[in-house]
Formats: sequence, structure tokens, C-alpha cells
Amino acid sequence: MSARGHGFGIDIGGSGVKGAAVDLATGELIQERIKVATPHPATPGAVAETVAKVVAQSGWDGPVGITMPSVIIGGVVRTAANIDKSWIGIDARALFSQALGGREVTVLNDADAAGMAEDRYGAAKDLDGLVMLLTFGTGIGSAVMYNGVLMPNSELGHIEVGGQEAEHRAAASIKDRDGLTYAQWAVEVSKVLVTLENLFWPNVFVAGGGISRDYAEWIPLLTNRTPVVAADLKNTAGIVGAAMAVSAGIAP
Ligand code: BGC
Repeated sequence: MSARGHGFGIDIGGSGVKGAAVDLATGELIQERIKVATPHPATPGAVAETVAKVVAQSGWDGPVGITMPSVIIGGVVRTAANIDKSWIGIDARALFSQALGGREVTVLNDADAAGMAEDRYGAAKDLDGLVMLLTFGTGIGSAVMYNGVLMPNSELGHIEVGGQEAEHRAAASIKDRDGLTYAQWAVEVSKVLVTLENLFWPNVFVAGGGISRDYAEWIPLLTNRTPVVAADLKNTAGIVGAAMAVSAGIAP
């Protein structure tokens, strides 16, 4: 299966490798999302096999876009903050392409993919200027979009805020680890947003990651000045952005 106007995206996360075919006119999935558990340890060879399983199950035979929680330059993995360290230096594009029978593959950062999807089809679709998406999960991912163009690999989750990396202060995993209430956690998120808005002056922040489903519990508690909107596409943003990237030939 592959068709004009359709793409295929895979989102590699800590618990699952998820993929589906996407209608690029609407940003909607055109088949049920396929999820296979992420292997442990999540070494390059084991993850490549899992990616091949997801694609085989879907029946898709065209190009594939794949996200990873890493800086990706020219298809090569450069950082591994929350994934197996053996990924660093691996040519992920070549590895996945080989696992998929030599087909065309694009690999990009997970938050960058989500940012592209939210900017085209989701929460930021009608917004111009500088849009900054932050995903709150195990770490904090970021995507910086200016008038629809992505500035890849921004890694703002690692910016220092009050002597601590932003993601060590305000990732969703910190809320869980420390048993913080939404009100307590919102104080930490606000500190991160104030640092970012004072440096970048975005028009809007889009808040993504699983915790954005509960946006009503915490977005109203934020005290920074820039408007914050919840991501729209929820758990499909990475898949949709990956499909967009490979279809558009975007390969950071
Ligand atoms: C990584 C980013 C990633 C983010 C969300 C961070 O720790 O450095 O590359 O986008 O987590 O997964």
C-alpha cells in the first residue's frame, strides 16, 4: 500500500514504536495506529527490527519517516539523552533503510516532527510568526517553527533554568517522580517558559506530550506572558510529522 497524497510515519518512543499511514491533505491517519513495544535494551539493531515489524504489519511499501528522541543531522544520531547510548554516531537513516529493504527513509527529531504537524494541521495552523512547541514527557522536546519553516534540532529542553536543565526541572516525568501537584509543577513549567520567551519571543507556545491531554488542569495555572495552547493532534503528532517530512524530502 502506498498512494499519492499519503505518507507513512513512525514515532519511536520509550514504551512503543508506533506507526500509521497518513493523509497529507488533512493530517489524519488513514489506518489504525500500529504499536509494537520498544525492545529493551533499545539498541539500534533491535529497534530497527521493531520498525520493520510495524511497517510490515501496516502493509505500506513506500517511503517512511521516522522520529527519534535525539538530535539527528544528515540521518546520523548525535545525542541520546533518554535512549540507549549506543545510538550515538549511528547512521539511523541507513540502518532503517536497510531494515526496510532499501527504501527511502527520513529520520528526524521527535519534537521537530510534532511541531511540523501541529503547525500545519493542529493547534498552530492559523498562527503566523514564531511558534514554539514543547513536548512534556520523559524529557522536554522542542520545535521552533517560523512561518511554517522548521529550525531543526533546537533541544531547548536542555537549556539551563535557575542552575538546572529545563527537562530536569519540568518534564512530565519529574512531576511523577516527585509526586508534584499540577499547581506545583506549573510553577516549574512557568520558569522554563519565562526563560524561553525572554530569549526567543515566540508568538505562542504549543504544549504537547501525553500530559497535554490534561491541559485544563495546568495551562490556566501558568504565569508566563506568552499564550500557551494545548497540542491538538495528541498522540499522532509524531507520526504525522514524520510522514510529512519524508514526503516533503525534509531530512535534517
Ligand atoms: C532529547 C530531545 C527529545 C526530547 C523529547 C530530550 O531529552 O534531548 O532530542 O526531543 O527529549 O523526547
